[in-house]
Amino acid sequence: MNPAKVKQLVKQTRTIPGWFSGDAAMLFAWIDEIQKKNNIQGDSFEIGCHHGKSAVLLGSLLDPSREKLSVCDLFGMQEGNVSRSGNGDLDAFNQNMQPVKTSGVSINVFQKNSAELTATEIGRTYRIFHVDGGHNPDEALVDLTLAAECTIDSGIIILDDPFRAEWPGVTEALIRFLDQHPDFQAIMTGFNKLLLSRTQWSDMYVNAFEAKSQRESYGFGYPWRVKEMPFHNYALRVFYVPDYLQKKSVGNLARYVYNKSEWLQKTRQKNPKIGMVKPSQAGSSGS
Ligand SMILES: C[S@@+](CC[C@H](N)C(=O)[O-])C[C@H]1O[C@@H](n2cnc3c(N)ncnc32)[C@H](O)[C@@H]1O
Repeated sequence: MNPAKVKQLVKQTRTIPGWFSGDAAMLFAWIDEIQKKNNIQGDSFEIGCHHGKSAVLLGSLLDPSREKLSVCDLFGMQEGNVSRSGNGDLDAFNQNMQPVKTSGVSINVFQKNSAELTATEIGRTYRIFHVDGGHNPDEALVDLTLAAECTIDSGIIILDDPFRAEWPGVTEALIRFLDQHPDFQAIMTGFNKLLLSRTQWSDMYVNAFEAKSQRESYGFGYPWRVKEMPFHNYALRVFYVPDYLQKKSVGNLARYVYNKSEWLQKTRQKNPKIGMVKPSQAGSSGS
């Protein structure tokens, strides 16, 4: 999906309660674009949909003539939500998904504990599999294991809350999953998500993430940075905004304007002494 359409969709779904940022929506759309450019077709699955905020975006990425969306949530059976992550509501979900259904995308709903899902039941046809259900270690691990079984070779598993202090169980599940699945690799993290792909497909995605023009078109140019950090045997691409650039200050406003203006950059290239940034402020490795 192109970035302009994502922005429009994020605006339209602003009032749906949930935990899905505009940046995460851009990332999902970017993954979709990479897959489409490489002729990768398939369905999408989401474990943990709450009121449908991320499911609307997932459904909107699909080609209704050959791809479908499937979701699983406890919805009204919240006594099974042992980690207390979210609070699914089937009526709200159905109402919020109406525009996706109207566009012709078929939606299968599994109202149950995701630990009871099987690959035979849901099929092995998914190009995007979003894991955002129970956040305890065993819950997230069982969901990741199912995702690995059901994702097509070139597909992507997206894990929510991978490194959040409030949800250490998800990080434990991630590490246990990677220990048990050497055919998978963590390729990128940012916007509270982490992407897993099979190792033989990782370059296709990573090359796209490293292309500056693509990053900028999906809104991840300045002030975003990308660094490679070793994680579980591979280089993980980390998207982040350094702390000092997150502060509201006149200096940061000036940096923002400068980085968004080609004219200012060209002028400074001709006369490098204009508006010199102190080396301590220009840091490239700070977090
Ligand atoms: C964090 S919310 C999902 C947020 C959602 N993706 C969004 O965009 O806002 C987690 C959801 O997982 C559901 N859930 C929790 N444990 C579950 C389990 N074991 N099986 C299925 N769903 C579960 C909850 O009902 C809740 O709706």
